[in-house]
Amino acid sequence: MHITVIGTGYVGLVAGAGLADFGMDVICVDKDASKIEMLRQGRLPFFEPGLKELVDRHTANSRLSFSTDLRSAVEQSLVIFLGVGTPSDSNGGVDLSFIYEAAKEIAISLNDYRVIVTKSTVPVGTNRKIKAIIDQHKKQDVEVDIVSNPEFLREGSAVEDFMRPNRVVLGSDSSRALAIVKDIYRPLYLIETPFVLTGLETAELIKYASNAFLATKISFINEVANLCEKVGANVLDVARAMGLDRRIGPKFLHPGPGFGGSCFPKDTEAFVRIGHDFGSPVRITEAVMEVNRLQRQHMTEKVTNALEGNIRDKKICVLGLAFKPNTSDTRESAAIYLIKDLLALGAIVSAYDPAAIEEFQRCFPEMQIDYCQNPYDAATGSHAVVVMTEWNEFRNLDLERLKTQMTRPVLVDTRNIYDPAKVMALGFYYDCIGRMSCPSTS
Ligand SMILES: NC(=O)c1ccc[n+]([C@@H]2O[C@H](COP(=O)([O-])OP(=O)(O)OC[C@H]3O[C@@H](n4cnc5c(N)ncnc54)[C@H](O)[C@@H]3O)[C@@H](O)[C@H]2O)c1
Repeated sequence: MHITVIGTGYVGLVAGAGLADFGMDVICVDKDASKIEMLRQGRLPFFEPGLKELVDRHTANSRLSFSTDLRSAVEQSLVIFLGVGTPSDSNGGVDLSFIYEAAKEIAISLNDYRVIVTKSTVPVGTNRKIKAIIDQHKKQDVEVDIVSNPEFLREGSAVEDFMRPNRVVLGSDSSRALAIVKDIYRPLYLIETPFVLTGLETAELIKYASNAFLATKISFINEVANLCEKVGANVLDVARAMGLDRRIGPKFLHPGPGFGGSCFPKDTEAFVRIGHDFGSPVRITEAVMEVNRLQRQHMTEKVTNALEGNIRDKKICVLGLAFKPNTSDTRESAAIYLIKDLLALGAIVSAYDPAAIEEFQRCFPEMQIDYCQNPYDAATGSHAVVVMTEWNEFRNLDLERLKTQMTRPVLVDTRNIYDPAKVMALGFYYDCIGRMSCPSTS
């Protein structure tokens, strides 16, 4: 079966390569000609473990190709996956211009029956709007069906998540379209992946409700961590004991500097907007966003407190710029908010990240940051080191070496990757999240 995937970002490229692996003939289309050129040369526009091997394998066997020519791709494909971006707009809603632009381009290219599968995260009602736009702009009298197929992959393990998802959600009014898409996902049936077949609105809402719930767990444990700091409790023990209750589960109970990334911040915001628009506010999610904002501020307070309230002209070394390990994605990363605050307070900032420096530099050219080749260079002459992303590389730093290179031995560990007792035994001032006021037993 011939398939087009529109958008070669994290979702589109992983889906394109994954569908080629399922045996489909896939054309990945992007309007960004430089991305397509890179991909044609065998280079990926971002770092994602395992993706390069998959892309190389299926370009070599000609099941995967790249193009900027959407019309030609649509003419050849029975099914068109939409994986374009849906960023926040300036009013707290979702900017659907990429989706609607793609829908119009599909419409004018239609020459036969097609199934449009929306993988992008879109507010309730968007899939019906896509259908209306296509019906309005199509040049030939051909049928189109829409399937909402929200994507749940996690950056950093996107390939594995696409190939072995917890579930596949398919929302549609058309049994014909559902049968075609189920056929594409046949390899997942064979590994007994649960399928949720439902209507368009339900599928759209499942994605937002899922992300809002995960964000809720994070903000919840961050508040618990802050309370632990006040009452002399250890949040890691609290989280572990909570997670052992099967009704709660251990995942997403890791306190940290506040959630970031390309999904949770924008999807919680959009979920709040959807609730308002439909007259059914989602107040818990509103609180989750506010707690997250305060948690980011709390990280700046931790750094300034560590240096007696004055960081002007002090050199702060930030380790980790990506919003999480194993990705080069810096969208809404907690490091952005910390570095902005530090610079505004007059600090000098150095930084190191194993994969995200280039991307950070590209996105924030205005930020005066001394980017370094390794953690030790970044820490040289610093008054504090702040761990913002839990890359494995940071878990085993030679702390004695780090200390000799720093002006002051201050370590703020926003990911709780170090053992407080060990770090303090080396003579560091050490702060972390929710476990400093009593000894750790774990
Ligand atoms: N990144 C994730 O982890 C993740 C996970 C699940 C769902 N999602 C959702 O998937 C969607 C895509 O996210 P992403 O992170 O892959 O985005 P992205 O910004 O990395 O990529 C989007 C791509 O679409 C291209 N594009 C935009 N309009 C186009 C058009 N008309 N024709 C061709 N190409 C076009 C852009 O050039 C870009 O390369 C979003 O709705 C997002 O919320 C993302």
